[in-house]
Amino acid sequence: MRRKIILDCDPGHDDAIAILLALASPELEVLGITTVFGNVGLEHTTRNALVVREVAGVQVPVYAGADRPLVRDRISAEAVHGASGLGGPHLPTPTGQAEPKHAVLFIIEQVLQHPGQVTLVPTGALTNIALALRLEPRIIPQIREIVLMGGSIDIGNWTPSAEFNILCDPHAARIVFEAGVPLVMMGLNLTHQTVAHPARIARFRALGTPVGRFVAELLEFFREHHRRRYKWEGAPIHDACTIAYLLRPELFKTGLFNVEIESNEGLAFGRTVCDYWHVTGKPPNCTVGLEVDVEGFYDLLVERIGGY
Ligand code: RIB
Ligand code: CA
Repeated sequence: MRRKIILDCDPGHDDAIAILLALASPELEVLGITTVFGNVGLEHTTRNALVVREVAGVQVPVYAGADRPLVRDRISAEAVHGASGLGGPHLPTPTGQAEPKHAVLFIIEQVLQHPGQVTLVPTGALTNIALALRLEPRIIPQIREIVLMGGSIDIGNWTPSAEFNILCDPHAARIVFEAGVPLVMMGLNLTHQTVAHPARIARFRALGTPVGRFVAELLEFFREHHRRRYKWEGAPIHDACTIAYLLRPELFKTGLFNVEIESNEGLAFGRTVCDYWHVTGKPPNCTVGLEVDVEGFYDLLVERIGGY
């Protein structure tokens, strides 16, 4: 039976690749794509989700969600992803529009309609997920799993302490991490192992297909920020790690830890505090990605993108 997922995202270059990987994988039934503010504003992330489904040629429904965090001010990452959020490739004009239903109501509806079967895959701020948990607590025991890109067992990328997705809405992240839903966290400590250097980008271009070229051009644009900031020869494909984990969990080494969110403002605001050495005695609440077979990750990605 195909695994039912809802991708909740802020496309964004790596979100776009995660969407393409999911839509190309018959093991997954993508019930819908829900969008949230994050890399760029909600209007852009929603349009970008429509653009990516156009590139994929798959009419998966798109639902717009939260346009701002629960409490803090909104931050964004145009400097990384460009003003549109998908700088680099030519973007086709999307046909169709987002559905009229709010993303949070769609998430609630689908989880109640398919009890125990829906996996939520957030790769942006956790605002939509937190709102769904608060609006309809009945879904909490009915969500199969939440597999998210966010946080880190160690250092941040937007502040020394915090990773961007969690920092976008630490209060929402705290609601999600405290809800008791089975959690998988693909944090920076894991995703930074997947740097798309030129030889890896060349594999997508070598496919000789429009989607292969689209992915290569996304990664070439995404690389520039990482060259400047980290002196790396490529960008990590953070968000695709969630989908790859669902498809090939054997590519990943994980550990069970207690992870809590710092929701108080200050130096550690938005940090995912991972009790790596189990010093608190608190029960684990999260499966945390530690290592990935990077060559296996890229073989999977190139194979599936090559399937379009
Ligand atoms: O910190 C990386 C995360 O922030 C990724 O999901 C990227 O798309 C941005 O949302
Ligand atoms: Ca993202």
